[in-house]
Amino acid sequence: MSADATLVTERHVRYVRDRTTREDAHLRLLREAALREGIPPIWICPEQGAFLQILLRAAGAREVVEVGTLAGYSALWMARALPHGGRVRTIELSEKHAAFAERWLGASDAATRVEVLRGRGADVLRTLPDASVDATFLDADKASYGIYLDESLRILRPGGLVLVDNAFAFGQLFDERPTDREAPAVIAFNERMAAEPRVQSVIVPFGDGLWVGVKLR
Ligand code: DHB
Ligand code: MG
Repeated sequence: MSADATLVTERHVRYVRDRTTREDAHLRLLREAALREGIPPIWICPEQGAFLQILLRAAGAREVVEVGTLAGYSALWMARALPHGGRVRTIELSEKHAAFAERWLGASDAATRVEVLRGRGADVLRTLPDASVDATFLDADKASYGIYLDESLRILRPGGLVLVDNAFAFGQLFDERPTDREAPAVIAFNERMAAEPRVQSVIVPFGDGLWVGVKLR
């Protein structure tokens, strides 16, 4: 590793995690209930949750749109960073996942700050007005990341944040033959994001890699 960067090891990850906001009981219970109900065990990690909260607070975000609710875990992290009157609208295709998330978010401290929107990410994003949103968090279908990005850059205000999960392609970024069928789509998206003139962005190595971009102009 060159002198301008420290190679992050598991020990560093643990060190960071031990000094960052922790998952509270509601988030933990939500995960445990999701597991029992057969929802895929996919969660952002706590340092990602904390970092999303810090970014949203720093941006003064009130209107957040998430693509891919799953169990509602990341939506709850984000909703907690919003002021009174702010909201996360989170888009989910699966009725089972949407219903679970609605139940758990509705019973949370952030119940008035989250709404689940049912449908395909691209379809629902297209219904939202231009320059009406402070931040988007893109997850869900990796082959659609390019469309999610284009729609994000339309609905975001200048200076708004576009946040994208899984930049490290489920840990398979450097595999010769990635086994995850979505890995190639993520890798292609990363090149697109890096070359996108409408945002300044960087990959932050929390969790499976988080793109953080700011909409320019
Ligand atoms: C996986 C993780 C994710 O964050 C995601 O969005 C999709 C899949 C995974 O680990 O398989
Ligand atoms: Mg993800």
